[in-house]
Amino acid sequence: MEKIGNLKDIKKGESMSFTYKGEKAILIRTRKDELAAYVAVCPHEGGTIEWDEKIHMILCECHLSLFNFEDGSLYRHSSIFELDEGLTKIDLSVDENKDIFAR
Ligand code: FES
Repeated sequence: MEKIGNLKDIKKGESMSFTYKGEKAILIRTRKDELAAYVAVCPHEGGTIEWDEKIHMILCECHLSLFNFEDGSLYRHSSIFELDEGLTKIDLSVDENKDIFAR
């Protein structure tokens, strides 16, 4: 298990970047206090994904693909290319000190 940070480091509705096994990753904390983390690399052509709290979706601005917060599955992509892969989810745990760990 790898420590990512502490809940006090990330406000509700925000995201933060971290490195997971040598790859860019993103930790998301929603306004409803849900947590999820993903490898921050778009399965299309490797664009960097971002959290968009307003629409409660994960966005790749390169070609405007959207991914579901809950499991990283693909929600929508442009009709000009094929894509059926979602994001790579990172399992998390939070201990009694509110430290967040990636498994
Ligand atoms: S690289 Fe993400 S949609 Fe194309």
